[in-house]
Amino acid sequence: MRLQKFMAYCGVGSRRKCEDLIRQGRVYVNGSKVKEMGILIDPAKDIVSLDRKHVLKMVEKKIYIMLNKPQGTITSVHDPQGRKTVLDCINWKNGRIYPVGRLDYDTEGLLILTNDGEFAYMMTHPKYEIEKEYYCVVKGFPKPADLDRLRQGLDIGGFVTSTAKVEYLAKKKENSVFRLVIHEGKKRQVRRMFKAIGHPVVYLRRDRIGNLTLGKLKPGDWRYIANEEIIDLKILTGGVR
Ligand code: URA
Repeated sequence: MRLQKFMAYCGVGSRRKCEDLIRQGRVYVNGSKVKEMGILIDPAKDIVSLDRKHVLKMVEKKIYIMLNKPQGTITSVHDPQGRKTVLDCINWKNGRIYPVGRLDYDTEGLLILTNDGEFAYMMTHPKYEIEKEYYCVVKGFPKPADLDRLRQGLDIGGFVTSTAKVEYLAKKKENSVFRLVIHEGKKRQVRRMFKAIGHPVVYLRRDRIGNLTLGKLKPGDWRYIANEEIIDLKILTGGVR
């Protein structure tokens, strides 16, 4: 990569400004002053500094994507068994991104992918209390007392869930439909919660994370998350004031 392009990627300024700095003899590569314009450097190996003091580092462009994960896909970057992954769904070729949290193979719905580790942590750690809303179709007809157990928190096998919001939506033949809101993300948590009250999940979809909703995205579709949406999510964590 050309030195001035690398410097621009590091946030030093425009390429013109970077060229000026090179001309002024203020740029060093591996400790030696650069004397000519247009030299090539290897960003992975060469150490570029300004005035021999400030080592320049490329600013990674942050990427935020939301996918409506279809059923029958694995929430992983790569699957040794060759199953379709969520990265295959978006056919991504522009650098490393990874899923934030996970949805089961058979779960559909909202999944965020990013290269921003701090953001991923804030979305998943329960202390930030980011709500995750699920549309759940379960077998049978849970009694009000069962729903209260879900609301208050219950043992799902080695873990007691914290409080949840549960809303009855409809009856569907032999099944019932609920909206469930939690802010934890234990493995198969929603399925284990309904199983614990004797009403296994037959269909599960995540509709919302914080302020971000699936909207019109169809299973398998994806879009970039807008800056304002990211800021709103960060505000919910208390990370932006
Ligand atoms: N809870 C589950 O049980 N499964 C999911 O995929 C997500 C939450």
